[in-house]
Amino acid sequence: MSTPIAPDARNDARNDAPLDGKVVVVPGGTGNVGEGIVRAFLRTGATVVVPGRNRERLDELAELVGSRPGDRLVRLHAGYGTFDEATELAERIAADHGRIDHVVPSIGGWWMGKTLWQTDENDWQKHFLETTTSHFAVARAFVPRLDPAGSYTLIAGFAAREPYQRAGIISMHGAAVLMMREALSADLRGRRRVNNLLLGPILNRSRPNGDPSWLTADQVGEAAVAVTLAPSVQDESIRLGTVEELDRELARIRA
Ligand SMILES: NC(=O)c1ccc[n+]([C@@H]2O[C@H](COP(=O)([O-])OP(=O)(O)OC[C@H]3O[C@@H](n4cnc5c(N)ncnc54)[C@H](OP(=O)(O)O)[C@@H]3O)[C@@H](O)[C@H]2O)c1
Repeated sequence: MSTPIAPDARNDARNDAPLDGKVVVVPGGTGNVGEGIVRAFLRTGATVVVPGRNRERLDELAELVGSRPGDRLVRLHAGYGTFDEATELAERIAADHGRIDHVVPSIGGWWMGKTLWQTDENDWQKHFLETTTSHFAVARAFVPRLDPAGSYTLIAGFAAREPYQRAGIISMHGAAVLMMREALSADLRGRRRVNNLLLGPILNRSRPNGDPSWLTADQVGEAAVAVTLAPSVQDESIRLGTVEELDRELARIRA
């Protein structure tokens, strides 16, 4: 009689916690979409580092994701809006944790209400300059410090590819960030994995109701984890407008 093969405990542990021992940084993790990304990476067993400018928002995040003492959520009260701040942050995380494996920036949100010619200098500063500078500061600080097997998965929205009426500077910001991702891919030439998710409207804590075909913030997290775990996904812009598109992309990525 043949002896059944016992399940391999090490493989089981690996599947339950595929990023155990890895360090994932989520700039923008305190945001509506970031919350789902943080929750998804905590489930992988990774140490998830979330920097933020606002202590209350960091505390609120811990409550939202149900973090308890001993969990692997690390909240850092630190900004990344300038080159110096972002570099300091990356150096601190590398020193504290000994490594940086994956970075998933979900920086900046939505804004609308003015035509381009009504847009004033304050709007431009806040919704184009500051958000674009933060994205660039984070990329230039973290990409060179990524583990060789690491990845960078940037979050962007459809407005980056399609102009929306009275939200022009959000589209311009998104387009700049998407081109930054492509330029990073060109400069890296395969030495690190750099991708972006291109999202449609997302159901989240600030907008819990909407078209049922839209993704939830948790599903964005699921997609970000799938990309992070798939060594073959490289230099891609992954369009995720509907749950149907998500299912198709997850099947492709996980194949
Ligand atoms: N919500 C959607 O339906 C949707 C749809 C498509 C795409 N997206 C994309 O998802 C990403 C996040 O959107 P969200 O809805 O989660 O936005 P959100 O709720 O406003 O969160 C924005 C996050 O970015 C951080 N941040 C850092 N620097 C910032 C700056 N200069 N200005 C504004 N925020 C800054 C904030 O951190 P602090 O805690 O430090 O403030 C916060 O964590 C964006 O790339 C957006 O284009 C969102």
